[in-house]
Amino acid sequence: MNNVKAAIFASGAGSNFQAIMEKDDLLCDIELLVCDKHDAAVIDRAEQFGVSVLVFDPKVFDSKADYEQILLERLRAARVTWVFLAGYMRLIGPILLNAYPNRIINIHPSLLPDFPGKDAIGQAYQAGVKTTGVTAHYVDDGIDTGPIIAQRKVSVFPDDTIERLTERIQQVEHTLYPHVIQQLLKYEE
Ligand code: GRF
Repeated sequence: MNNVKAAIFASGAGSNFQAIMEKDDLLCDIELLVCDKHDAAVIDRAEQFGVSVLVFDPKVFDSKADYEQILLERLRAARVTWVFLAGYMRLIGPILLNAYPNRIINIHPSLLPDFPGKDAIGQAYQAGVKTTGVTAHYVDDGIDTGPIIAQRKVSVFPDDTIERLTERIQQVEHTLYPHVIQQLLKYEE
């Protein structure tokens, strides 16, 4: 049990969720998975780890403010002080940004500011760059624009396929993201 409580927001396969959960000595407890897709594979992973899951459908709310208010109440009830985005495909709005200043972080599969937004790996592959990578950054109101915390380079080989490149990038994410979280939380203790 750690004093620091955190939530992960994720909507996809959940490989980064898993990597965070498996990190020894993460210095926080993951109290909640927030997910906006009822059939996302990450939900099964959360259940395996015994992490509570909040699934919501943004379409049933009139506005982002409406659903973020509900999320905020749940985060506060769980005493969450950090939020880690891991494949959550929505912009975070003012309600959560104001409630968690400099306490929402994201992992992105490119060397930002290059290739922000969706399909960053595909964008880099199509552009023919020799080097791409992974970025951990604070979240602001833009698309992958917040201050950078850490980056790791990943080479693109001449005979690479997008699948092989994706696999290597994800391996780097799975090491970098839990490490960044742990380093940030060192200052909390
Ligand atoms: C990762 O590549 C992450 O960088 C991006 O979304 C992807 C999520 O993958 N933000 P997973 O669901 O963690 O496997």
